[in-house]
Amino acid sequence: MKSLEKLVRNGVLDINAWPTGKPIEEVQADLGLESLALMATNENPLGPSPKAVEAIQAESHKVNRYPQGPCTYLKRKVAAKLGIGEEMITFSNGADNCLRIIGYTFLNSGDEVVVGHPSFPVYGFVARVMGAVPVEVPLSNHIHDLKAMAEKIGPPTKLVFVCNPNNPTGTIVKRAELDAFVKALPDHVVLILDEAYFEFVDDEEYPNALDYIKEGRNVVALRTFSKLYGIAGLRIGYTLASPELTSVMERVREPFPVSRVAEAAAFGAVDDDEFKSKVLANNEESKKFLYAQFDRLGLTYPRTHANFMFVDLKIDAKKAAQSLLEQGYLIRPGTLWKHPTFARITFGTMEENRGFVTALAKVLGR
Ligand SMILES: Cc1ncc(COP(=O)(O)O)c(C=O)c1O
Repeated sequence: MKSLEKLVRNGVLDINAWPTGKPIEEVQADLGLESLALMATNENPLGPSPKAVEAIQAESHKVNRYPQGPCTYLKRKVAAKLGIGEEMITFSNGADNCLRIIGYTFLNSGDEVVVGHPSFPVYGFVARVMGAVPVEVPLSNHIHDLKAMAEKIGPPTKLVFVCNPNNPTGTIVKRAELDAFVKALPDHVVLILDEAYFEFVDDEEYPNALDYIKEGRNVVALRTFSKLYGIAGLRIGYTLASPELTSVMERVREPFPVSRVAEAAAFGAVDDDEFKSKVLANNEESKKFLYAQFDRLGLTYPRTHANFMFVDLKIDAKKAAQSLLEQGYLIRPGTLWKHPTFARITFGTMEENRGFVTALAKVLGR
């Protein structure tokens, strides 16, 4: 280790590698499972948008050529849909990579980054990679506690992350509260509003980050094609921000961050209204079904606005997840977020949801 300390940047040895398990196919083969329902990573259970698949096939013949770095065609289309200028969008290989761009653009070593807990762990990861210091603020009643977060903002603060809806709880902060929070932000702070699950929210009081951006606030929004559009495996997401903030993020992004295939797929998917309606209908049906089933099983949960739920199983969730896996259902225990009796469950197809509930009832001895 001593020689590594001399080689690598300060702080790198304090970072843990991102936890990853065995390939899914191997897990399934080792357990001899005929099928495995993937309900752990908030993907789209209905597959990719068919329009994306068509576009991928057409583009596959052109992959000897580099992509066009800024994704100009896609940018035009998304900008027109959102009613904003193209100079307010930056595409990259997944919202995860947009978070890296945000880190490279804004964070100096020693800066503080205010994050909710439990929330999306990549915020703290990016902060640590940049030598910045994550300051965790516990959620209140499973919702971002904006008052407590505001109290942690001081001269060393550079970024504040609000995940809305929050991963893993599925909860949202409402417009009136966020309006007041944004208005009170000091000039040296940038608010990152992670809207990876934006399209799933159906609540009149849900704030849209674009409203703050249009007002000229220091706000960067994150969106992705991984969830609603079902192309997580292609890796494409984007930031929305003022032209000024976008222009500085454009300086630090990779030259060709999005593959030709990913850009083409997103270009196709974005117009696939039929697929979007199906996904949203499945999501609503799943939510209603799981609320009713969890109620029946006496389990508690915050109400969700996303494609997953955070449920208190009231037993050791790691053990429960293992038993569920052995029955063909992969879920994410709350251990990662220091919530050992909770689990995050991604909505499946209705068939998967029903099978999951039967398996869960067995684990709970009901
Ligand atoms: C809150 C949140 N932000 C960002 C991401 C990353 O999305 P992407 O697949 O575009 O990298 C995820 C993925 O699960 C997420 O849950």
